[in-house]
Amino acid sequence: MLLTEVDHVAIAVRDLDAAVQWYADTFAATVSHRETIERDGVEEALLSVADSYVQLLTPIRTDSTVAKFLDAKGEGIHHVGYRVDDCAAALRQAVAAGAKAIDAEPRPGSRGTTVAFLHPKTAFGTLIELVQE
Ligand code: CO
Repeated sequence: MLLTEVDHVAIAVRDLDAAVQWYADTFAATVSHRETIERDGVEEALLSVADSYVQLLTPIRTDSTVAKFLDAKGEGIHHVGYRVDDCAAALRQAVAAGAKAIDAEPRPGSRGTTVAFLHPKTAFGTLIELVQE
């Protein structure tokens, strides 16, 4: 089994502060990490749930893929991040098994992670992120 843990469930939101506040009010959740990822045009807030995270994600530019997602589908679950020991090896194996890669090679993610995305088209409609810590 290549997947070692659910790393995060990413939820696209229009107002990051409002979403953080809602999770605080509703579940007493606190932000354990907040980061702007310029390359992807997003800002994220990570809320710890045991060894995993809820990742609240909002676009900082109109050309961000998350901005396009919000326009097309509205707020909601954007992708699932699965933790792997070796992102490159997991990506190779997934592609060999027929998965369509969005990233041909692993690339830097938030928190100093290494990540690669798999297209929802070959994954039953779910955008999948492979996350190596
Ligand atoms: Co993610």
